[in-house]
Amino acid sequence: KKQAPCSKDTICLTQIVLFLSCQDCTICMEALAGPSGYKGPGVGGISRAESVGRLAQCGHQYHLQCLVAMYNNGNKDGSLQCPTCKTIYGVKTGNQPPGKMEYHVIPHSLPGHPDCKTIRIIYNIPPGIQGPEHPNPGKPFTARGFPRHCYLPDSEKGRKVLRLLLVAWDRRLIFSVGTSSTTGESDTVIWNEVHHKTEFGSNLTGHGYPDPGHLDNVLEELKAQGITEEECLPRD
Ligand code: APR
Ligand code: ZN
Repeated sequence: KKQAPCSKDTICLTQIVLFLSCQDCTICMEALAGPSGYKGPGVGGISRAESVGRLAQCGHQYHLQCLVAMYNNGNKDGSLQCPTCKTIYGVKTGNQPPGKMEYHVIPHSLPGHPDCKTIRIIYNIPPGIQGPEHPNPGKPFTARGFPRHCYLPDSEKGRKVLRLLLVAWDRRLIFSVGTSSTTGESDTVIWNEVHHKTEFGSNLTGHGYPDPGHLDNVLEELKAQGITEEECLPRD
């Protein structure tokens, strides 16, 4: 029996089915039209292995069960990153131990920034005992080289970086507890994934000035942690 052609104003079901069966879930590499390839506990009664989730902002689709598995296998930091386009959902937080962040302006210019003064940030974190969010809960951690002094040009962009670093500090993303790649020491406070300049007038370590790309690099690193100016503006 001959099938009637799809009319222009009703969507063609065959096309949708074909489309879905051609798409793979890039988490488990199985077809989105079929069940999740992840054989784990289901998602608390709200879905079956066939359920497909569509991320609200970027629109990328995965099995719901695969998204949940990905979250549970990660560091469960309250956020989820689209594995395709890296859009961050939720607010990412880290495991930085308690401490203090202070800053002030000093009346000197950094190499490469002759026209402005300098912001000095002082981080202080004392040693302590690791919490459940750290690699070895209950074990002590050391804290070397504190207070750590860092420098930014007191320019418009430098002040923007400072504002975002304050957000990063509140979200516990500036430091972490782990193994220092510089000293090899484990169970110690280490820089997380946002680079800081810890040298003022020289550049002996490579963590000094001049470095024309520094502020843009830091803005990218902050973005990778889900911190952007847009996101930090008050919403109505
Ligand atoms: N200044 C700024 N950033 C640094 C420094 C430094 N002196 N040394 C390393 N980093 C960066 C690295 O490039 C890397 O991206 O920190 C990240 C983590 O490196 P680790 O060596 O694991 O971090 P940590 O042990 O915390 O830092 C080593 O940094 O500020 C100093 O006093 C601190 O001597 C210590 C050194
Ligand atoms: Zn999947």
